[in-house]
Amino acid sequence: MQYHQYLGLDKVLTSQQPMSEAQGRAAHDEMLFIITHQAYELWFKQILHELDSVLALFSQERIDEKDMGSIVLRLERITEIQKLLVDQIRVLETMTPLDFLEFRDLLYPASGFQSFQFRLVEIKLGLRSSQRLTYNQASYDSQLLPDQAKSVQQAESELSLFEGVERWLSRTPFLRMDAFNFWDSYRQAVIKMYQQDRQKLKENSFLSPDEVNIRSQQIDRAEESFQVLFNEEAFERAREQGHWRLSHRALQGALLIQLYRNQPILQLPFRLITALVDMDELFTTWRYRHALMAKRMLGSKVGTGGSSGFHYLLEASEKHKVFSDFFQLTTFFIPRSALPNLPREAELQLGFF
Ligand code: HEM
Repeated sequence: MQYHQYLGLDKVLTSQQPMSEAQGRAAHDEMLFIITHQAYELWFKQILHELDSVLALFSQERIDEKDMGSIVLRLERITEIQKLLVDQIRVLETMTPLDFLEFRDLLYPASGFQSFQFRLVEIKLGLRSSQRLTYNQASYDSQLLPDQAKSVQQAESELSLFEGVERWLSRTPFLRMDAFNFWDSYRQAVIKMYQQDRQKLKENSFLSPDEVNIRSQQIDRAEESFQVLFNEEAFERAREQGHWRLSHRALQGALLIQLYRNQPILQLPFRLITALVDMDELFTTWRYRHALMAKRMLGSKVGTGGSSGFHYLLEASEKHKVFSDFFQLTTFFIPRSALPNLPREAELQLGFF
């Protein structure tokens, strides 16, 4: 085996064909522009490779505990790649807006909007088409080549990471153990925590009656916010309105994992959720950084693909999220001191005894 052959470098290194050169008006920075995009596409390919393997494991009826380590490692690998993707923007930003204008007109109507692999990543993570911003009043896949449009439609009908994770969470086996009913114990702990807060407020002699009144209302409001969790009908209504996406059962599983993450058996599930939170945050970071880059390069010009440019990208960074539930869930974390202690029998089930 020879290095060049093994890596297919003949193809890779002859795949940079600046349009400006072909037109006899060579623009120095077009090479950087092409190579940066190609590097992104290679990393997207690697991300898809990791995602597909993880999705295959999530597609099974049950996930073997032995596979959990690989799942977590692969998701963590994706987040490390995403950090590179964010950093690469700085390299492209060494191209100034004037240098970009040397060849930008040659790109019309091509645009990153047509990145097939980027769309696959979004779909496989679980971004729903109903969530997407409309783009020139047309569906996002109208911009893709016909075969690619078919493939993204196919991907939309397959299991996404969000759905796989939701199913897995809703199977969390430790929610109702003989020795410990998590949901009842948690609800009681929340009630007790706010009772203690009210008691402390009563005993506080430094606050004026007005301040006591304000704080008391804050405690009431904080406690009320838990009603959406404890009243399943209210939760379903909130879910229909799009405030939550996970099922109630999956949410309980996620909360148990977060609150009792020190229990040995919950440590990998906790790292899995953390990787999903990192992934969502890093995609939002990339989208936002990319929007800023577009602003600095284009100002208020429209994109080569025809969108409003910066504003479209900024809105997408706010709306195109998948795992928002895990961010919202933090509202319902309570301090370790307020958490119900696990009975010994439950601890035995959650440890490696
Ligand atoms: C000079 C640098 C860049 C500028 C000015 C820029 C600008 C834009 C603009 C304005 C859009 C909105 C669609 C349109 O109207 O064309 C867009 C979309 C997009 N660009 Fe870039 N871009 C740049 C570099 C990159 C790079 C290096 C990538 C890496 C693959 C990339 C990937 C994407 C993707 C995936 C979208 C679709 C985003 C979405 O729909 O959420 N762009 N870009």
